[in-house]
Amino acid sequence: MKRLSVLFTSLLLCAGTAMAAVNIIPKPTSVVEREGTFRLKNGMTIGYNNPVLAPAATYLQDLLTQSTGFSFKTKAGKGKIQLNIVLPDENNEDYELISDKKGVLITAHSYRGIINGIATLRQLMPIKCRQNFCLFGGFHEFYWGIPSVTIKDAPNFHWRGLMLDPVRHFFSVEETKRLLDQMALYKLNKFHWHLSDNEGFRMEVKAYPELTGDSMAWRRFNYHDRQCLDRAAKENNPTMLLPWKFFKEVEGFGELYGGYYTQDEIRDVIQYAAIRGIDVIPEIDMPGHNGSACWCYRWLSCTQDGREPLCLGRNTTIEFAEKVYDEVFQLFPYEYVSIGGDEVNRRRWSECSECKKRIESEGLKDVSELQAWFTKKMEKYFNAHGRRILGWDEILEGGLSKTATVHWWRGDHPDVTQKSTAMGNEVVLCPFTFLYFDYAQDDNTLRHIYDGDIVPVDLTAEQLKLIKGMQANIWCERIPTEARMQWMAFPRALALAEKAWTPRKDQSWDDFFPRLQAHLKRLDAMGIQYRPLQTKRP
Ligand code: ACM
Ligand code: ZN
Repeated sequence: MKRLSVLFTSLLLCAGTAMAAVNIIPKPTSVVEREGTFRLKNGMTIGYNNPVLAPAATYLQDLLTQSTGFSFKTKAGKGKIQLNIVLPDENNEDYELISDKKGVLITAHSYRGIINGIATLRQLMPIKCRQNFCLFGGFHEFYWGIPSVTIKDAPNFHWRGLMLDPVRHFFSVEETKRLLDQMALYKLNKFHWHLSDNEGFRMEVKAYPELTGDSMAWRRFNYHDRQCLDRAAKENNPTMLLPWKFFKEVEGFGELYGGYYTQDEIRDVIQYAAIRGIDVIPEIDMPGHNGSACWCYRWLSCTQDGREPLCLGRNTTIEFAEKVYDEVFQLFPYEYVSIGGDEVNRRRWSECSECKKRIESEGLKDVSELQAWFTKKMEKYFNAHGRRILGWDEILEGGLSKTATVHWWRGDHPDVTQKSTAMGNEVVLCPFTFLYFDYAQDDNTLRHIYDGDIVPVDLTAEQLKLIKGMQANIWCERIPTEARMQWMAFPRALALAEKAWTPRKDQSWDDFFPRLQAHLKRLDAMGIQYRPLQTKRP
């Protein structure tokens, strides 16, 4: 709770005489500043013109109260701070924010647009007042003010995401929610949740409860755990220690490390994210990166020895996949669900009699086509449940149908986006060459991301329409704590936010860098343990 209140100090307002310069990340389409300040006062009302905005008004009320200590009312109707939807269009995220001495008006076409306006409002507030105590008009008084501005704004891409991997190292619901709060401040709207992998299965599945049983979701130290602990000792760095809160005494095994999310917890995270305008995109990785499931149910494995990938020769595997995704579909309300599909050790299939039979009976050429057969089968299943399939770019190999969306992650395969979009498939960009936030940083990393051509330059206008946006991936083999995650993700996430929101022609490092420097104070106020701009520590 203490951390949460620190988070909201980002909203602390300051002396009228020391109003912060308007400094928004990502850079809005247009900002016009005028004279005058709107002063927040105890008892003010947040009004809204459409009942769907009630959760947004409550969200803003909580933010303002936790910063100022004032109480705010929310009501359907008119308020000093007004949230209005006009010409409703759910797919339109644009917003306009007008503030003057009398109040603040945020207008948008959708709930998400209003949330984007609230993110900008949060950033219009000075970061922190000295003891919140300001000299104004000859009197000492508290003064929380918002500068007079007109801001018009619209995103360049609709997919602006972060992926978190709570499998390699676990993150609690509270830690996950804090990341969602930070994402919302920078208009990042897709939270890709990598919920299964070799090291554990983190989503409760009612049909297969053993997946998250004590000896499955918890583990003895693995290679990466030991690397983290060695580094913690060598560098005297507590952010590399596995937190005690994730250890548990398991009968017959001793103290194990791990955790999982119950379905109630998952629903709670989804709702928390939805209020903040963020879709939660689940990933249950198949047919590879599934060692935890194969170990739990040996019949999933070609040689029944618990090693991945899933045996695609057996119908029981297909039934397992469908039942797991059934529960995913019940929990997650969004269109996109990721099947993963990366780094599959397909050689195992060429040595498996069941898989060989499948290749023959389906008239497939090779093991790549066997993976494509599985992906297409699942794709039909997803579509029949009203969902669209997403997968890492290996799903291209062996053939892909048009409804699949590709996550381009292999930066060393620069033709992936060209090929996918030429075939008519949508692409989300996350090449490791720019957007793997678990990769070490140096003092040039930020500029490399900001100035980089993350959108390949060789695409036609038709192909560009198939670029849904971009996201950064935070793989957590070497990230055992929230503090370390923040160190790796910030301030890179601010560069990502601007790359994804602001059109390329309006991106300028010389303009971004001073804004970023000012934002570091905001990150300080929020208690985010980001990597300082000049440091030798990797
Ligand atoms: C991946 O990094 N294997 C998607
Ligand atoms: Zn097999």
